[in-house]
Amino acid sequence: MNLTKKQIKQFHKEGYLFFPSLFSQEEIKNLSSEVPKIYDIREEYNFREKDSDLVRTNFAAHLYNTSFAKLARHPRMIKPVEDLLQEKLYMHQFKINGKMAFEGDVWQWHQDYGTWLNDDLMPSSRAMNIAIFLDEVTEFNGPLIFIPGSHKKGVVQANHDLTTTSYPLWTINNNLISELVDRAGGREGGIVSPKGKAGSMILFDSCLVHASSNNLSPFNRVSVYLSLCAVSNHIRRFKRKEYIAHRDFTPIECLPDDCLVKDYKVNLPWKDGVPESAYQTSLKEIIK
Ligand code: SIN
Ligand code: MN
Repeated sequence: MNLTKKQIKQFHKEGYLFFPSLFSQEEIKNLSSEVPKIYDIREEYNFREKDSDLVRTNFAAHLYNTSFAKLARHPRMIKPVEDLLQEKLYMHQFKINGKMAFEGDVWQWHQDYGTWLNDDLMPSSRAMNIAIFLDEVTEFNGPLIFIPGSHKKGVVQANHDLTTTSYPLWTINNNLISELVDRAGGREGGIVSPKGKAGSMILFDSCLVHASSNNLSPFNRVSVYLSLCAVSNHIRRFKRKEYIAHRDFTPIECLPDDCLVKDYKVNLPWKDGVPESAYQTSLKEIIK
């Protein structure tokens, strides 16, 4: 799937694109039916909520689960990002965020590129997030919220938050958020929140400021996030473990469009467990 000129223009203006019901219910079922067994695994790559045993974020399922390995090569997810970055991509991060009914915790205001720069030394923001809803997202189950156009500010001031949730994040303070929302239109469109059926997809700039509130509803909000980086812009430091920030910069080759409903062979390098090397970290900068 490629983007039209109009979509590309809109993306540059707003910093995101929304594609309601892009994947069929059959495609979504083949993904969501895999989630409970992935969340049951007692491995470090399953981050659980601070005050419960429910999974907040599962990392790197594309390296040990066939359905998610196919999603990681899906042309409806990869091609639009190649169109925008005009380069082959590698997978920087792959997450299945739970935000489970009643227990799903907040994601504070942040930019993803802030974390990728500060922690991973990713040279520029030539990277993108693309999310797919495995559950319907409504105003009740903690939808993502964006400040439209905020990506144009580049990297903004952030602080390393290690306490609010179970996952460390570079977060943006309230004064700056108020300013950005005001500039984006205040109560008239200064915050937006794309909502829709399972199978909907959102593409958003790595500098777009975003957050989500907690899920007090009885409805899960499982979503998958692919963070795709232009190959030439690969990270220059392995400060974080490899299941969080990947170190394989091989360009992604897409599978056919029907890959979620048909059998295709995919490589699962971590199917027998995470290699010891993936837990090793270093503050050393990699020279290109
Ligand atoms: C994220 O910002 O990485 C996730 C936010 C969410 O799932 O609500
Ligand atoms: Mn984020």
